Amino acid sequence: MSEFSLTRTTTPTSEAARKAALADPGFGRYYVDHQVVVDYIEGDGWQEPRVIPMSDWALHPAAAVLHYGQEIFEGLKAYRRDDDSIWLFRPDRNAARFVHSAERMAMAPLPEQLFLDSVTELVKLEKDWVPVSENEQSLYIRPFMIASEPYLGVREANTYRFAVIATPAGPYYSEPVKLWITPNYTRAAPGGTGTAKCGGNYASSLIATREAAANGCGQVLWTDGAERKWVEECGTMNIMFVTADGELLTPGLGSILAGVTRESILTLASEHGLKPVERPITIDEVLDGVASGQIPEVFACGTAAVVTPITGFNSPDRGVQQVGDGQPGVKTREIRQHLVDIQYGRADDLFGWLR
Ligand code: COI
Repeated sequence: MSEFSLTRTTTPTSEAARKAALADPGFGRYYVDHQVVVDYIEGDGWQEPRVIPMSDWALHPAAAVLHYGQEIFEGLKAYRRDDDSIWLFRPDRNAARFVHSAERMAMAPLPEQLFLDSVTELVKLEKDWVPVSENEQSLYIRPFMIASEPYLGVREANTYRFAVIATPAGPYYSEPVKLWITPNYTRAAPGGTGTAKCGGNYASSLIATREAAANGCGQVLWTDGAERKWVEECGTMNIMFVTADGELLTPGLGSILAGVTRESILTLASEHGLKPVERPITIDEVLDGVASGQIPEVFACGTAAVVTPITGFNSPDRGVQQVGDGQPGVKTREIRQHLVDIQYGRADDLFGWLR
C-alpha cells in the first residue's frame, strides 16, 4: 500500500451544498473536495503520492500535453450499497488498461498497485460524496495522466503527472439512443490508437457527433478505418447485438477499446440464455438483420453509460431504420438490471468483481 501525504482543503463543501449536488448530480457538474496527484520524473521515477485540495494546476504553456496531446485516462465508479458500504467495480481491469494506454502513447506506465491505491485513497477520503443507490447514482472516478514537461520538440516527455478526480454521477444517457452511420469519419485506423483510452480519440470524435445530431441521432456508429464496412463501436461505448438465434454478438478486440463493461456483459451472457460471440460484423449484416428481425435488440455499453438501448439507425444509404418495436428489448433490460444489481450488491457477485 502506497503512503499518501494529505493536505486538507480549508474550504470543504458544506453538507447542505453536497446534499443538493447529490440530489441531482448530472455528470461532471460537481467535484469532490480533493484530488490525488503523483508526478513522474524520468530517471527518478514516481514521486510521493499526494492528496491535495481540488484546485487548478499551474502548467507551463509549453507543457507537451497542450501541444501534442500526450494524455490518457480511465473511468470507473464507486457504488454505495444499502448497508452504506462502498464498492469499486473491477478497478484492476482499469489499472491494467491504463498501463496499455500508457505504453501505446509512449508514456511512463503507472504501477497498477499505485493506480488502485490512488483510487481507493480518494474514495475513502471522499466517501460522503458517493451517492445513495437510488436512480443508479454513483461516484464516477477519473484517473488520468498528462505529459507535463515544458518542451516543444516532438518526443516522449521526461515528466508526467498522474491524477485522480471524482464527480458524483447520475445516468449518462437518460433515454435510448439512435445511431448515425457516418460516411465521413472513422475513429480508429489500423495501427492507430483505437485500443488506447487517450484524449485524442475523443476530441476527433466530436465532429462526427455533431453530424449525428444534425441527422437526428444521439451518437455515431463507428466503422473500421480501412474499408468502412465493419462495425467497431458507438459513441464512447462498445456495441452489442442480440440475435434471434440466441447469440450476444459483438465485434472482437483489435482496434476497439477493451471495455470493462463489455467484458463483464460477455461473461454474464450465458446467465441470460445467450451465447457470447466475438467476431467481425458488417454494417450490412446489422442493417439487414434489424430489417428482417434476425437482430431484434441492440445496445451500447460502457462505464458511464452502463447499458444503453439502441432503438434505431440512420445512414445516407439506407435512411432511418428502427430496431424491433423501437423500445428497449427484454434481454437488454435483463442484462442491464443484472449488471447494476451486482454493482450495488443486490445480486451475487459470482465472479468476484467488487472490491
Ligand atoms: C466511460 O464510460 O468511462 C467513458 O469513457 C465515457 C466517458 C468519455 C464519458
